[in-house]
Amino acid sequence: MSLNKGKVYECWLSYSYLPDNFNKEYRGFCNSIVAKSKHPVINSAIEELKIAFTRFTGQSPQIVESYPDSGCIFVGIWDEADDKALGISYSDLPDDGFIIRKYENSGKNVLAVVGKNEQGALYGVFHLLRSMCLGKTLAQVQGIDGPGNPLRIINHWDNMSGFIERGYAGQSIFFKDNRIISDLSRIKDYARLLASIGVNGVTINNVNVHQVETRLITDEFLPDVARIADVFRQYGIKLYLSINFAAPVEIGGLSTADPLDESVKKWWKDVTDNIYRYIPDFGGFLVKADSEFRPGPFTYGRNHDEGANMLAEALKPYGGVVFWRAFVYNCQVDWRDRTIDRAKAAYDNFKPLDGKFMDNVIVQIKNGPMDFQIREPVSPLFGAMEKTNVAVELQITQEYTGQQRDMCYLGNMWKEVLDFDTYAKGQGSLVSKVVNGSLFGTKYGGIVGVSNIGESKCWTGHPLAQANLYCFGRLAWDPDLSAREIAEEWVKLTFGHEPQVEDTIVSMLMASREIYEKYTVPLGIGWMVNPGHHYGPSVDGYEYSHWGTYHYADWKGIGVDRTAASGTGYTAQYNEPVASMYENIETCPEELLLFFHHVPYTYKLKSGKTVIQHIYDTHFEGYEEAEGLKEKWLTLKGKIDAEAFDLVLERLDMQLKNAAEWRDVVNTYFYRKTGIDDIHGRKIYR
Ligand code: GCU
Repeated sequence: MSLNKGKVYECWLSYSYLPDNFNKEYRGFCNSIVAKSKHPVINSAIEELKIAFTRFTGQSPQIVESYPDSGCIFVGIWDEADDKALGISYSDLPDDGFIIRKYENSGKNVLAVVGKNEQGALYGVFHLLRSMCLGKTLAQVQGIDGPGNPLRIINHWDNMSGFIERGYAGQSIFFKDNRIISDLSRIKDYARLLASIGVNGVTINNVNVHQVETRLITDEFLPDVARIADVFRQYGIKLYLSINFAAPVEIGGLSTADPLDESVKKWWKDVTDNIYRYIPDFGGFLVKADSEFRPGPFTYGRNHDEGANMLAEALKPYGGVVFWRAFVYNCQVDWRDRTIDRAKAAYDNFKPLDGKFMDNVIVQIKNGPMDFQIREPVSPLFGAMEKTNVAVELQITQEYTGQQRDMCYLGNMWKEVLDFDTYAKGQGSLVSKVVNGSLFGTKYGGIVGVSNIGESKCWTGHPLAQANLYCFGRLAWDPDLSAREIAEEWVKLTFGHEPQVEDTIVSMLMASREIYEKYTVPLGIGWMVNPGHHYGPSVDGYEYSHWGTYHYADWKGIGVDRTAASGTGYTAQYNEPVASMYENIETCPEELLLFFHHVPYTYKLKSGKTVIQHIYDTHFEGYEEAEGLKEKWLTLKGKIDAEAFDLVLERLDMQLKNAAEWRDVVNTYFYRKTGIDDIHGRKIYR
């Protein structure tokens, strides 16, 4: 780790706050580390223990190959361990998992961290260190653990110019001026952060693959891409690349990119063979095809399965995979045409292809049917792909959720997604079980997150947005954790154990999504943002555009009728009883009312309030609660790292300006549309 760059840089790995029970529980193990392996991943594990123990005890531990006369930590893989002492058999360990156990070796205490493989040992070390920092006892820390999802992947939307599409934390840490950055030390620090939360794959370039990036798969850039892969490999992380489906034409000199054309197949095979010469454990390709002007198989009258399988064929001999995105919709619609519903597109495009994809293709589905809004239902496609590997794509970067100026902890939203019951095989068919492969017995699956980091000193622009990256990894590892538990962990690790500090920051995080929702977009309708950059309000910003994202507000009512009875029929894409729940306005969850139904402003919610009054109330409350966030933060002055304190305060001021703008624009817009007064007579600009 590049040490001494400040706590905001070190994130949750600063090892600065040691709980009282450390000496009693762990001190005796910390003078020596026994490791037999010289494997690079084990070396990373040892390096981590060294950093942590030196900070905890003020002394650097000795690294030895045989057991010392005092207590020690053992780190290694199963074959090197004293398996009898561990009391389990190899098959008890989950893939990439580990066991932590204390035992006696010739009268000396050994705390063993044993991985099923090297990666597992590294995860075990991070687990142990995290547990120490959280004040867990030795008894609590012992046991077996392993990842709940095989694939835990971060997608970067980084361009080689250094610009990050939808990035809110500065420029790319990988690219600058159309080259790969030469000093890789920050990438190493990043790999370490990711490994600490269990991430095992990273796609380094944007899904929108432009001209220069198309050449990342060629000899021109592969030597440098391989250098990045080398760094990630030390932390058990595989590198993936986003590719341009039209590459055979754009850089290969072919006249077609038709996936069924033999010369095209050969071209991709040769390209893939070459990539594996540079990067023997290359993860595979990520593809955005036939979506938002990106090329794809449609041009040649082919379908997604044909495109994906052609690439999968090339990757198959090496164990590589294709992530094929389901974010496919018509982005050139005429707003006058009320029959087209963008929400239906992913299902309509992919459901008919279920069963046609090769077993090393993973269809990557955004959490919702639209596009990462502050509130939308869960995509019905998760309940429909029984014979296909699928992964859920979450957006860690806060494009529509405050852009890392406004606070918005996304843990609650992601939990709603993972816990959503698709009823695909009856009750209990949760999205988390679909994506980890257990529901349908699919081979691969997992959780993908669009990165929120950049060159910013604290990585995420807003220091509290680090909680989202942390939460992403922890949930991908263990989808059963609660959003609150994860927030508590993150706060303790990042800011320490002082109860007031912990309570304050955890309560701010937990409230932040609803606060943001309150002052922005009501009842699941989505958008209402400034076109292009998507920050701040513009209620009609997309209303007459070609993107298919409408609210249909007129003087009488608002909302999109997506029912089967009288609307677009979107509700029918869900399995029963979910379809009927959304179809029926009485049972439709109110926070999604306007996503599914068009209602008059005078429609009464269960609270007894009309929709228009709800809009006014939430917008006034949202602003006040944002003020409350700042007040709470101010109580932490002098109690937490000063740099983090100041950075967050700056952001909270930006948030307040934004919240005021949203409140006033939205309230005025609806007052002008309806002529209906706020029953409380608060200030609405006319
Ligand atoms: C959103 C986002 C784009 C991105 C796209 C995608 O629409 O605004 O920047 O390219 O999603 O996920 O492909």
